[in-house]
Amino acid sequence: MAKYIIEGGRPLRGRVKVSGSKNAALAILAATLLTKETCEISNVPDISDVEIMCKILEDLGAEIERRAKAIKISTRLVKSYRPSPSLVGRMRASVLLMGALLGRFGKVIIPHPGGDLIGPRPIDIHLDGFRSLGAKISFKNNLYFLSSSGLSGQKIIPRQESVTGTENIIMAATSASGKTTLRLAACEPEVEDLINFFKKMGIRIKGGGTHQIEVFGPASPKGVKYAIIPDRIEAGTFAIAAAATKGDVLIEKIRPDHLESFLNKLKEIGVNFKVGKDFLHIKSSPHLRAANIKTAQYPGFATDFQAPISALLTQAKGRSLIFETIFEERLSYISELVKMGAAAKILNPHEAEILGPTKLYGTKLRIHDLRAGATLILAALVASSKSEIHQAEIIDRGYENLEGKLLSLGAKIKRIS
Ligand code: EPZ
Repeated sequence: MAKYIIEGGRPLRGRVKVSGSKNAALAILAATLLTKETCEISNVPDISDVEIMCKILEDLGAEIERRAKAIKISTRLVKSYRPSPSLVGRMRASVLLMGALLGRFGKVIIPHPGGDLIGPRPIDIHLDGFRSLGAKISFKNNLYFLSSSGLSGQKIIPRQESVTGTENIIMAATSASGKTTLRLAACEPEVEDLINFFKKMGIRIKGGGTHQIEVFGPASPKGVKYAIIPDRIEAGTFAIAAAATKGDVLIEKIRPDHLESFLNKLKEIGVNFKVGKDFLHIKSSPHLRAANIKTAQYPGFATDFQAPISALLTQAKGRSLIFETIFEERLSYISELVKMGAAAKILNPHEAEILGPTKLYGTKLRIHDLRAGATLILAALVASSKSEIHQAEIIDRGYENLEGKLLSLGAKIKRIS
């Protein structure tokens, strides 16, 4: 297992380009199963979750060419609807193969997806959606067996919003005969990106960034060229790194419209910044104020920012309350921040408090999940001494070349395998 050695206490300075969105890329790569024609996807982040998705697709018979940040993929030779259980078990996004393979073959045999341990993460919303469309589902020997002799469009209202649940249901709905109306759909930019990919493929679909999506099937999706949106969570992570280290950083190739709630929160905390068409310039922000965080579905404050922003709040004056409304176990990083000297405590599985500002000290830290890992790196960049952060591979899942980007901003970070 690799580890990061970070010597913090240095303001980050310079400019950094954000990579393509992990969660948009994973959904769009799965969706290439819906066409037998070749797709060319650009601005794909070079991260291990994308590697796993490509391995799963190649294992099914897809032909993939990777050049820098572009992926050329043809699934015309794919015959199997049984993705590799060991690979599926490594990330949550594998769940998207259900909708794609159900749409392509009317059949799927797949285990429960893996993913960050941030709660039980059931998939009942996905399965209920597939059943509404006419799929038969059974579960034995730790495998879901989905089959349908033909899906038909329906009105579907899930019991609650789900990002990959929305993506999965509309993926399957592309092959259903008739209109599917999905209400209480997730509006995240990554869902909208998948829908824009569908529109480009010639699928008749209305919505995207809205709580109602209509899919008119069955569709005959064409192969297309498509560029993935920038990763809003990576953009925010660098903004926090700059503000927390009292630095001055220009973050480029972003979509500011995907960051509105996040930027409002930075303003509330007293972070000085300038927003342009495709950039965010974080300027030195000496006086940070405590703020309360309550996560919500888009366009609310994203749960993926909840842990990283807490590293910033350890440097803010006053008492901040964190309320994680989406996941049940997404506060594990608090105990690691306390080891560094933060005055923080978990109040219950959904709430924590942080008193600041406190001086942070480097120490040995363990990464629990992807965004908690990013949080510890941010805290280590603030800490006045050396930190050792183990399980660096978890960071590789969702951040492209994080240590290289931080080095270019003047951070003292090195990776030891
Ligand atoms: C997606 O996860 C993202 N992952 C997550 O990003 C993100 O945190 C999350 O959406 C929320 O925005 C990908 O897109 C691959 P949900 P997802 O279904 O789809 C419950 C990251 O760090 N639920 O919107 O799994 C669920 O347990 C990752 O990049 C059910 O109960 O999230 C959670 O409490 C982490 N039943 C809530 O809904 C279901 O069938 C929202 O989950 C599905 C979900």
